[in-house]
Amino acid sequence: MEQKAYIIGDETVKKYLTVDDVIQCVEDTWRWYGEGKVVMPNKITTDMEPMGVHGWFNSMPAYIGPMDVAGIKVVGGYDGNRALGLPYIKANILVTDSKTGVLKALMNGDYINDLRTGAQPAVMAKLLASKTDIVTVIGTGLQGYTSLLCMSRVLTMKEVRLCDISEEAMDRFIARFPDAPFRFVKCKSNEEGCRGADVVITVTNANANLVEEPWLKKGSLVMTMGSFRETSFDVVRKADKIAVDQVGQSLHRGNVKELAEMGEITAESFDIIVPDVLAGKATGRTDPDHRIYAQIIGTGMLDVACAGLVLKRIEESGADAFRYDMTK
Ligand SMILES: NC(=O)c1ccc[n+]([C@@H]2O[C@H](COP(=O)([O-])OP(=O)(O)OC[C@H]3O[C@@H](n4cnc5c(N)ncnc54)[C@H](O)[C@@H]3O)[C@@H](O)[C@H]2O)c1
Repeated sequence: MEQKAYIIGDETVKKYLTVDDVIQCVEDTWRWYGEGKVVMPNKITTDMEPMGVHGWFNSMPAYIGPMDVAGIKVVGGYDGNRALGLPYIKANILVTDSKTGVLKALMNGDYINDLRTGAQPAVMAKLLASKTDIVTVIGTGLQGYTSLLCMSRVLTMKEVRLCDISEEAMDRFIARFPDAPFRFVKCKSNEEGCRGADVVITVTNANANLVEEPWLKKGSLVMTMGSFRETSFDVVRKADKIAVDQVGQSLHRGNVKELAEMGEITAESFDIIVPDVLAGKATGRTDPDHRIYAQIIGTGMLDVACAGLVLKRIEESGADAFRYDMTK
């Protein structure tokens, strides 16, 4: 058996994967997970900070049954990257033959990682938001951009409010949406951004209370996506319903991690498990006035599924993509 692996760069990934493909892939993969058709151990974080290296990386394996795709994403956040002209988040994806373990592809995971991250709040808001007229994005970096890009494909929004500690980041963000069918508002404070908003997403690299509970209106949906704390504890504690994309990983990272460590949040605290709702096994929003808090921790199955789709399309196209003989 030959052991040739595709080496696939980001430009090639972009050629074979549209924004709409990724949104569909996230929805399908979450549903398959809810149906029990995906194997996915919890991600493992390697924090290099104690060794004086300002970064961390996650190992995120998965097997997607309906696609017969096995693989792993290795993704990290590196504080020094911006100074080098690299994104803060850097990802690589490895796809192996599910029957033999032979390497099938080594892929730059940046585009997939960023887009699948943005597709998550789009799919979740479609499912759980009561209204989407006013959407607030706290953190107007790369993942904030892909989040709004994907949300704008599936939600109808009238006003998008932006909050960031960097005015420049907000201006750059707005410039990326020249034909936006909604108006942008740059907010002077997070409170101004949150009061009256239908949907709030936080997607920063901060570790702070960016959202306070009294600012949130009835029926709102708050989705946190950053790797650390982004709301006050009361945003979670006083929510009518708590939603997650996956149970196990949600207890170890992200906004609810500290509440989980204090024993206030356990696996039983999660009222809405989004993949189960998509699989038709559970209900999502049951009351338009409920304030729903959602943590989107991000799971490797989404990256592996997107990578599998790219690989399938390259193989089907017969394109002369570069393959390296792994026996050499
Ligand atoms: N949940 C997921 O699936 C997932 C996937 C990838 C990345 N992430 C996380 O998303 C976060 C953002 O990543 P990124 O690639 O967009 O980084 P980025 O550096 O491109 O953007 C982060 C933005 O947050 C802003 N910011 C920092 N502190 C802030 C504060 N206190 N208030 C308001 N804005 C603040 C920065 O100015 C910047 O514009 C990181 O925590 C990353 O680990 C989550």
